[in-house]
Amino acid sequence: MSFRVFAAGALNDFYTTAAIAPSSPHLASAMLAPLHLSRARVALELGAGTGAITQCLLDALPASSTLLVFEINRRFCTHLRRKFKDPRMVLINANVANLDSELHRRGYDHVDAVASSLGLGFMSETQRNEIFERLMPFLRENAVLTQYQYVHGMQFANGRLRRLSLRPTLNRYFDSVETKIIWRNLPPACVFACRAPSITTH
Ligand SMILES: C[S@@+](CC[C@H](N)C(=O)[O-])C[C@H]1O[C@@H](n2cnc3c(N)ncnc32)[C@H](O)[C@@H]1O
Repeated sequence: MSFRVFAAGALNDFYTTAAIAPSSPHLASAMLAPLHLSRARVALELGAGTGAITQCLLDALPASSTLLVFEINRRFCTHLRRKFKDPRMVLINANVANLDSELHRRGYDHVDAVASSLGLGFMSETQRNEIFERLMPFLRENAVLTQYQYVHGMQFANGRLRRLSLRPTLNRYFDSVETKIIWRNLPPACVFACRAPSITTH
């Protein structure tokens, strides 16, 4: 069911969905491993799709925590609402470009961990920077963000395909960036585990 909903979403808007299939359980667990979720009070997911990573986040988070979930696609949000009845999940059907105002108006100033599946390679450098400029003030000291990128690392720019590594962008905002390749995913993906600075300067 999730696969069918995901494929329909990808056919409808490939640039935003930025994938041909939901993340595998192997990729989902690699995205969670660096996040210290058992101690988290507020976690944030960016780009939930049909919930492949959302389910694992909910399984790992404490009973008293909150999971803030951004998803821009209305069909995916309808699917997520049906699939997850967990009161810890706050689904935000909005563009992460408005992340700061969406979090503030719900009363959130900080998050402890972030799992992002956004197709950053399909965005311009300006859009990527805008997202991180808005996100960084919410990260607690040493909070960890995970982000994946398919190993082929392609980006559409001026109507052409070219290789892109997210590392230079992530290095600009985070104190340390570690990578791990997950081969058991379609396609294989690189997970970046990024530690926020001790004193947030952005
Ligand atoms: C590569 S898919 C990942 C879906 C899911 N997390 C997974 O791993 O299977 C990226 C998701 O991010 C969502 N997305 C892309 N740009 C977004 C934006 N600017 N704001 C909110 N969600 C966005 C897409 O609709 C899509 O569901």
